[in-house]
Amino acid sequence: MKERIRLSLAQMGGKELDFIKEAFDTNWVTSLGPNVTCFESDLEEYLTSEKSGELHVVALNSGTSALHLGLLLLGVGVGDEVICQSFTFCASANVVGYLGARPVFVDSEAKSWNMDPDLLEEAIRDRLKKSGKLPKAIIPTHLYGMPVDIQAILEVATRYEIPVLEDAAEAIGSEYMGQKCGTFGRFGVFSFNGNKMITTSAGGALICHSKEEAEKALYYATQARDKAPYYQHSQAGYNYRMSNICAGIGRGQMYALEKHIERRRAIHAFYSEKLRECPGIHVMSNPDDRFQSNFWMSCILVDPILSQHTNLQIRNKLDAARIDSALLWKPMHLQPLFRKAPMYDRQVCTDLFSTGLCLPSGSMLTDDLLTEIINEILPD
Ligand SMILES: Cc1ncc(COP(=O)(O)O)c(C=O)c1O
Repeated sequence: MKERIRLSLAQMGGKELDFIKEAFDTNWVTSLGPNVTCFESDLEEYLTSEKSGELHVVALNSGTSALHLGLLLLGVGVGDEVICQSFTFCASANVVGYLGARPVFVDSEAKSWNMDPDLLEEAIRDRLKKSGKLPKAIIPTHLYGMPVDIQAILEVATRYEIPVLEDAAEAIGSEYMGQKCGTFGRFGVFSFNGNKMITTSAGGALICHSKEEAEKALYYATQARDKAPYYQHSQAGYNYRMSNICAGIGRGQMYALEKHIERRRAIHAFYSEKLRECPGIHVMSNPDDRFQSNFWMSCILVDPILSQHTNLQIRNKLDAARIDSALLWKPMHLQPLFRKAPMYDRQVCTDLFSTGLCLPSGSMLTDDLLTEIINEILPD
């Protein structure tokens, strides 16, 4: 039987095993060690630019723990409200609940599929009117690698002095006006789980702008141990540090990062070219030159009248041909878990969800496999 074409598989660059072997040979098979510090400095070097200013990276065991620690460092606590993009993966909203706060959802704008800055301002004013206080933080997500219109979001956030935690889990290497996503907000978050642009098998990172904040994140990530010659704790901490073995994979992956981004962008260009004249199918692309997606995922919107198929029908057709695809993230305000959360809605992400589809986008896909996928999508 033909091998199934997967949505987004990890791809090793070749050097990962060398770093893992080094960890074994030197017996650094633990949650700290040279791979962790080197992976952090590799990421710092990759992300830092004149525009970003000073950066400090803390390697963690998942993107979810990075989001959690980011909110903790922003002082989010019981009874607070945090504004989240509704169109995101559940982790961006779940972490709000971990701290006893509650999420308030904001719809996307059609051009980037990400948080609508005008609606964000409307939501902030309305929350102030209804609850008497400002939201404690804003979490925009660079979904599928497409940058949020972060300049517009930061303008609103600055006006109300609310800090921004950027969920760049899917967006390593994406840029907005020449600056890397994840480096704009008070904190940024990446995920290195197995389906991301680069992987550490499981892992994440918190991007900080000062050494003090990075040290505080590290303190919480390693059980909040006091400076004492014995184990003493004045606060509750977490076991969130990345292991030295996972970081070895990460160090190896850094050598492949640019190649992976280049290939995912080429895959997006391939789909765009081949589906350009396909009636009723629109490939999501950079809205203008300010936005440079890494195209972690190539996504399409399907007009059921013009294409004579729904997104679900295309998904089923691909599935029958042993090709994976995925419906877009179901918006958070439509999730049973968040049914009581406030939503500032213009029906944008609801429409995206009902018509969109993610196509296989992994960097290992060959042009022959892409042609196979396209042939299943194009009308007979
Ligand atoms: C947008 C978004 N946020 C957060 C996460 C959480 O990352 P992790 O799976 O590493 O916890 C993911 C990854 O799945 C994601 O796609």
